[in-house]
Amino acid sequence: MPKVNTLRSKSKNKKDFNNKNLKAFITSARIIKRVKQLAKVINKDYKNRVPIFIGVLNGSFIFISDLVRAVKLDVEIDFLKLSSYGDSKISSGEVKLLKELNCQIEGRDIIIVEDIVDSGLSAKYIRNLVLQHRPNSLEFCTLLMKKGLSNLDFDIKYVGFEIENKFVVGYGLDYAQKYRNLKSIAVLKP
Ligand code: IMP
Ligand code: MG
Repeated sequence: MPKVNTLRSKSKNKKDFNNKNLKAFITSARIIKRVKQLAKVINKDYKNRVPIFIGVLNGSFIFISDLVRAVKLDVEIDFLKLSSYGDSKISSGEVKLLKELNCQIEGRDIIIVEDIVDSGLSAKYIRNLVLQHRPNSLEFCTLLMKKGLSNLDFDIKYVGFEIENKFVVGYGLDYAQKYRNLKSIAVLKP
């Protein structure tokens, strides 16, 4: 007989990794709380509208799934995929579109969901791409934003946490495709 899967509260805040290259940074409890707060604001801002959440793969897959489940609106969901980092910690400075959008953007309210805004290059690229299709509105929602780094000429309206310029992993964010499945966010030691 398989054992019944019981959730134990004592493990709630325990580090969900045992890896000496990682340093605990944002607990899963804090992330969950913040995602709910963001969803509440979005519920209010998009009342009586049906926004399309567009997740930027791969990094946003966990964030967008928690976010849309916390939102109490009719929503549509699509994804696009970009690549700019490869397996490096530093942006190549070149954004490539690896998966196009499948939804009709024209006249719709679009919310781009990102894991992290670092240089802002990806966000700029996506903004230009989406605006070509004439949405009714376009906003960005990112879980993390690196302080003072992005030289953006537009606002990122919904920001989970502003963080220092450190390379972080977990909750969808990777280093060389690893660590995406951590429940919390950790700093990758240099
Ligand atoms: P950009 O520099 O704002 O264009 O960031 C592009 C992408 O790089 C993000 O969507 C992430 O996938 C990745 N990235 C940037 N900073 C980090 C980090 O600290 N950890 C993991 N991935 C990152
Ligand atoms: Mg990445």
